Parts: sequence; structure tokens; C-alpha cells
Amino acid sequence: VNTLNSKSLEKTRRSDSLFWEQTYQKTPDLYEELIRGEKLAPEIFQTLAPYLKNESVLDAGAGSGRASLECLRFEVKKLYAVDPSPGLLNLLERKLIRKSVAKQIVVSQGCFDRLPLKDNSVSVSLACSAFTSEPRQGGEQGLAELKRVTKPGGRIVIIWPRSKDHEWFLNHGFCYVKFTLKKPMNIQFRSLQETLFCAQYFYPKNENLFYSLQNSGKPEISFSALGLNPPNDFFWKVIEK
Ligand SMILES: C[S@@+](CC[C@H](N)C(=O)[O-])C[C@H]1O[C@@H](n2cnc3c(N)ncnc32)[C@H](O)[C@@H]1O
Repeated sequence: VNTLNSKSLEKTRRSDSLFWEQTYQKTPDLYEELIRGEKLAPEIFQTLAPYLKNESVLDAGAGSGRASLECLRFEVKKLYAVDPSPGLLNLLERKLIRKSVAKQIVVSQGCFDRLPLKDNSVSVSLACSAFTSEPRQGGEQGLAELKRVTKPGGRIVIIWPRSKDHEWFLNHGFCYVKFTLKKPMNIQFRSLQETLFCAQYFYPKNENLFYSLQNSGKPEISFSALGLNPPNDFFWKVIEK
């Protein structure tokens, strides 16, 4: 269980939820630029693969489809991608154009507290970097909805949870999995210019980041430099009804 405290995050990252909501709504392309190089540890989906293949799966808070596209790669039968942001869903739909797997995905607008799915409709309900213990990003109501749409014996999987929610998930009966990294994980950008822009826009208070970027000259930022846990963990729980 990682130990980053919220103070170190405050110093480095835009943490106000309004800022992020506005980014998702008004500048989805900018958000896409940030997360394009923010790859999940491959072990996450390799571990989930047996539960995904030929199954119906929900990606709640799907955004522009980071986890949805992984699910399709791991041969799900049907994938429901749900998110409140039309801009991000639009990006996902653009990524699906001319892909043969596009017919396996249903993209809909919706929120954790009111998922547009029938009871017991999926074997796996997952959320990646989206579900938190806070009511506006899930919370008790959101968890009840994830349970409602998941078949008995199915799983809820919360990928890359916030460290401050670990206790909440453990108290709600989830198990924790974290993969050991062979080398530190970085966010990879396409150019140094894009890296500097994203650093300035999304991490304006992290002055050290600028100096180290200018010195290294490399289009990448390590998660540790951002004061963030890398995306190498998840919580999971089997649903019994
Ligand atoms: C950090 S992004 C992650 C997106 C995507 N899962 C990924 O891994 O790239 C958080 C996502 O949660 C979505 N979100 C925020 N509030 C939500 C809610 N109440 N219900 C469902 N999704 C929500 C946002 O629109 C955004 O797409």
C-alpha cells in the first residue's frame, strides 16, 4: 500500500475536481494529450484477462477509452463504455472508427450513481482512474450501482485507485493487488514541447519538474517526479447476491 500523503500531491498537481471536470468537458483533446503516454502497467490486464475473454464488461468512467480499448484487446464479448463527458466519449468513438471490434462496444453517457445498464448485465464492472469514495465520483451510491449491474459471481475491479481511498475499499471488502515495477514508470509524450506544455498546464506548482525537464531534454515525466503513484495496482471484489 503506497504511502504518498495528500500534502505532497497538493504541491504538485491540479487536484481541484472542478478543474478536472472542466478539462474533461471543455478541453478533452488536452486531457488526451496528457494521458496518451500514461500507460497502465501491462500486468493489470494480463491478470484480468481470464475474467474478460468472451464476457460482457462495463468500463464505468471510461473517458476516452484507455481501459475500454484494453478490454477489447483481451477479447471481451461486449463492452459497455459509460462516461458523463460527451467530449471524451467522442474521442473514444473516433478511436473506434474502422476498427473491426467497434461493433462489440456500446458507448453511452452516464454516471456512477445511475448507470444505463440493466441489473446483472455484466460479468466484470471496472473503473480506471475514475471511481473514488467521494459521492460525485462514485461513493456508496456508485458502488451500489456497480453491484447492481454485475452478475452474481462477477467482479468489480477498480484500477489505479487513489491512495487515500485504500482504506475505504478494504473496509468495503475489496482485495488489493499491486505489481512490482522492474523499472520506474514514466509518462511518455511525443515531444519536449508537449511535455513542457502539459507540465505547465496540469502541474503548475511543480517547479522542480520544469528544471528537470529542461535539463534532461527528454519528452517524459516520471510518476515519482509528479508525486503520483504509478498505475500498477487495482482493487477487486467478487459479487455475491
Ligand atoms: C481520470 S479520467 C479517467 C478516464 C479513463 N477511465 C481512463 O483511464 O483514461 C476520470 C473519468 O471519470 C469520469 N467521471 C467523473 N465523474 C464521474 C461520475 N460521477 N460517473 C462516471 N464517470 C465520471 C470523467 O468524465 C473522466 O472520464
